[in-house]
Amino acid sequence: MINAIQMTDDIYWVGVNDKETDLFESLWPLPEGVSYNSYLIKDEKIALIDTVKINYNDSFLEKIKGLIGERKVDYLIINHMEPDHSGSIKSLREAYPDLKIVGNAKTMNFLAGFYNIKEGTKIIEDGDQLDLGKHQLSFYLTPMIHWPETMMTFDEYDQILFSGDAFGGFGSLDGVLFDDELNINFYATEIRRYFSNIVAKYSPLVSKAIQRLSDLDIKMIAATHGPVWREDPNYIIEEYRKWSNYETDEGVVVVYGSMYGNTKIMAEAVARSLSENGIENIKLFDVSRKHVSDIINEIWQYKGVVLGSCIYNLEIFPPMETLINDLENRNLKKRVLGIFGSYSWSGGAVSRLQNFAKQVNCQLVEPVVEVQYSPDANMLDQCYELGKNVAEAVINY
Ligand code: FEO
Repeated sequence: MINAIQMTDDIYWVGVNDKETDLFESLWPLPEGVSYNSYLIKDEKIALIDTVKINYNDSFLEKIKGLIGERKVDYLIINHMEPDHSGSIKSLREAYPDLKIVGNAKTMNFLAGFYNIKEGTKIIEDGDQLDLGKHQLSFYLTPMIHWPETMMTFDEYDQILFSGDAFGGFGSLDGVLFDDELNINFYATEIRRYFSNIVAKYSPLVSKAIQRLSDLDIKMIAATHGPVWREDPNYIIEEYRKWSNYETDEGVVVVYGSMYGNTKIMAEAVARSLSENGIENIKLFDVSRKHVSDIINEIWQYKGVVLGSCIYNLEIFPPMETLINDLENRNLKKRVLGIFGSYSWSGGAVSRLQNFAKQVNCQLVEPVVEVQYSPDANMLDQCYELGKNVAEAVINY
């Protein structure tokens, strides 16, 4: 039993599942794990597309050997050099010293820098092809999805797009590989969490790549993470297209930072008003107790965002600062935005949120509500007014 999975007559998934890493990139929780996908094409020449994280070297090499026996791997095509995919390159080269490593000019800088590999490489340019026998591979340079060297590889014979990080998602492949084998409800949230946290900053380039690939007749999409899309590749293309164009559903995410409950009371007033004014999808989060990656994920789904914060040591509450930094970093736009906050002896949270509102291209809705000490009935009326105005703006956007 080698645990490789056959995809077509000649192509196999030889990736691995990671259920041991707690934090992807030492930042993002992996409650459902993640897969590192590598693919092997067995033709007159044997080619691998990407490798796996270094921790899984041994099982990766065993899978390859189980499939090809005493034959050699002729080519390693590198779509992406981030070490979750390039970590096994050195071991692969040691196992197959004649292996030719294929990438673009930028790939080679990473290859030399990370692994001191400078020989036995083949530099390709956008549009170049590689002949394996039956299979012809075409290369498409797609920089910044998600690093400068990223590219995609299209197999003309089986019409499979090996897409790198694009169209990928969190969630290990628990006995499944293809979209027609799995419950999409299980994976959908983790796929959007992956997009919104890892790829969203580069949304304009994702959008551009999708337009460029529209001429290809794609039968299957095989990304570096997550399921292989063979029944409905358009599903994942459309999801990525929507997210990268900042298209959203009707709903509002309300996030508050509160130490002693005063800002929380304001958030609840806003949320109640949203409900009374026609919003069905309301997500209310305590920024201290919901991981920022989950909050970003929800914000990426919905049209409305309302942020409220208390103050801490003369500055905005630290977990809220983390959230708004991350949203600025991802160039949040095309949202309806509301802000509020509270303080006791020093202001600053609301002014920081107002500064955030100027940085992102969102529609700021009045009133901006700021309370000293605890919100009284008049202040809660203002929170209600804010919720009402956000609801109207979201519905009429
Ligand atoms: Fe999965 Fe950008 O690496």
